[in-house]
Amino acid sequence: MNAPTTRPEAVLIDPDDIGYNTTANPSFSTLIEGRLSRRNLLRGGFASAGGAMLGSIALAGCGGGGDDDPAPVQPPAGLKLGFNPVAKSLADAVVVPAGYTASVLYRLGDPLAAGVAAYKNDGTDDPTTYDRRAGDHHDGMSWFGLGAGGQWDAKASGRGLLVMNHESLTPVFLHPRGRTVVKGQRTEPGEVLREFYLHGVSVIETTKGADGQWSYKQDSAFNRRVHTLTPMELSGPVRGAEALKTRYSANGTRTRGTVNNCADGTTPWGTYLTCEENWYGYFFRTPAADDAKRSPRELAAIKRYGVGPQEFYGLWGTTQGAANADEQDSFDRWNLDVSGESAVADYRNAHNTYGWVVEIDPFAPGSTPKKRTALGRFGHEGACLGVVEAGKPLVWYMGDDARNEYVYKYVSNKNWDPKDATGGLAAGDKYMDDGRLYVARFQADGTGEWLELALGKNGITASNAAYGFTDQADVLLHARLAADAAGATKMDRPEWTAVNPKTGDVYVTLTNTNASSRPLDKTDAANPRFYNDPKGAEQKAQTGNPNGHIVRFAESAGNAGTAFTWDVYLFGARSTAGADVNISGLTAENDFSSPDGLWFSQASAGLAWLQTDDGAYTDVSNCMMLAAVPGKVGDGARKTITNTGADGAKRTQDTIAGARPGEKGTQLGRFLVGPKGCEITGIAESGDGRAIFVNIQHPGEDTKDADITDATRFQSHWPDGGSARPRSATIVITRNDGGVVGV
Ligand code: FEO
Ligand code: CA
Ligand code: CA
Repeated sequence: MNAPTTRPEAVLIDPDDIGYNTTANPSFSTLIEGRLSRRNLLRGGFASAGGAMLGSIALAGCGGGGDDDPAPVQPPAGLKLGFNPVAKSLADAVVVPAGYTASVLYRLGDPLAAGVAAYKNDGTDDPTTYDRRAGDHHDGMSWFGLGAGGQWDAKASGRGLLVMNHESLTPVFLHPRGRTVVKGQRTEPGEVLREFYLHGVSVIETTKGADGQWSYKQDSAFNRRVHTLTPMELSGPVRGAEALKTRYSANGTRTRGTVNNCADGTTPWGTYLTCEENWYGYFFRTPAADDAKRSPRELAAIKRYGVGPQEFYGLWGTTQGAANADEQDSFDRWNLDVSGESAVADYRNAHNTYGWVVEIDPFAPGSTPKKRTALGRFGHEGACLGVVEAGKPLVWYMGDDARNEYVYKYVSNKNWDPKDATGGLAAGDKYMDDGRLYVARFQADGTGEWLELALGKNGITASNAAYGFTDQADVLLHARLAADAAGATKMDRPEWTAVNPKTGDVYVTLTNTNASSRPLDKTDAANPRFYNDPKGAEQKAQTGNPNGHIVRFAESAGNAGTAFTWDVYLFGARSTAGADVNISGLTAENDFSSPDGLWFSQASAGLAWLQTDDGAYTDVSNCMMLAAVPGKVGDGARKTITNTGADGAKRTQDTIAGARPGEKGTQLGRFLVGPKGCEITGIAESGDGRAIFVNIQHPGEDTKDADITDATRFQSHWPDGGSARPRSATIVITRNDGGVVGV
């Protein structure tokens, strides 16, 4: 007998660190060859300045554009950051500014139903209780005010439903001694069941006590866990497609569960959107045998999405020893190998039921979540709702997080009717199952266009060489391939999207990339840097764009239009880096690397929160969260930078940089630094902005499997301290004087 072994560390690479876009999609050529036009830049500023000057959400985002005389860009008015920035930190602690208190609210394993025991956190908790415990890797999150009658009340501030994603796992801490794998197979079904339940979404009722302290209500009737075994509807244009048919759903209308839920989104009717990011890494496939049983089109799609056989997430599809046929089926569904006589006899199509934006109604705990296929299938980071106007279409902005992937937007065909604000999932059927999907192309002159992903348009046809599209459902199911055909701009890993309610400007964090994905001669105006950021005492080379940047754009013809202007809001960098790297002039009080979470406060319009998921600057600081008061698209200047290759070769690149922090009334300050090995991700606020909720994801994640029996070797013990295993957790931050957070 082979002794049980734990999973090799090497497979725990973030799959979004790998790119699958092998197209030669330029926009490179257009970007490099194009010339920056000052006229267009200033027009961009003018287009959005109108919204800010009026200070109105209803009017923001409506483009100007027809006027030949550009108006000056206006600085943000009235909003000032109200804290002393914190220093970078390598401590195993959450650091917040003086005058603020951070408290732990909801940790991995915490019970969310009556009668469930406290989490022992030693890997021995009963697997069957995990469907009523907090999941792992807390991520994107929204807070919905709860009215006295149990309905959504956006203004409520003392009681609300906190809804959050549980993206992934730190397996070493979940079982007695990490994962059990024997000869490449999972042999402990209980361990796999824990992992199923630890993914998905939590809904918890939160309340502010008379003493001002926040807590969650363990036995609330609203509390709910959505996980990988939760039944879901496939909704919208792809519902019922041949490619969605499985042994579980012979008519292709249903699937089970959701995984790798990264950032989130909301709707104007008070529901929650959870987004499936690195879903392709959960599926098991044996190409040597399976390839011959697949069509060339299927294989092209599998390759473009990076589906199997990487098995980043734990060999679920190999699990043996189930107690009964139903349980064995829940394991087999992660194995894509063609084994039956038809698609309804096996799970060859299971991967096609993942990669979607999923809508959950937190106010209806018994409701069935719906995967909204009209928003396209890719590595969804988040879905940020654009500025909402009565009588106009609704839009959501979305990033596809892998190297060289794209930025998308969805536009509803129906115009928003405020009467639908209480419509629940039926409103979702109306606005999110019927619309148009677009992908972004950035031009070097500071303009950009939205390319519609529709059969027969933009090269998306049956005769397309890389992949012949059969119908619109096929286009949505293979949105990446459609975007390739349309000629979208490859970006440096699009993470969160965020919309400034004060201006309508849309922000996209581009977390980082490496030299192989964007070599020195493949930079462009919107992804302009190539440099080395040496790490640690050994000065280990990190080349490419290891610190990331943030692009923003202003729609030129309303949210539903197809033209925009853009600039780079911020460039991540060490404050000590040279001027061609630290383009934004970051200082010791606000330097950061690898932007990921980005979210605008609704209570303090114009206040943004920026969170990092970094591995490049972690020789100097743990991951962090900054507060910002940004300006607007076009508030900076065009710029020519000099990039330096690993061999010393130089190459110039034009770009468009936004105002530096401190210029034109813009501000940026570090507000929080997290414990060791963590990422900061997910933020929400109470209706009055006097409490913010922030997620600390995977503290201690660099702990080695072999060290699980020696607590002194754990990278972190946060939040419980002592010799405890670390736990992902939600914290709540309040100001000691009870004021609004951040300003
Ligand atoms: Fe799950 Fe793109 O971070
Ligand atoms: Ca993220
Ligand atoms: Ca991330």
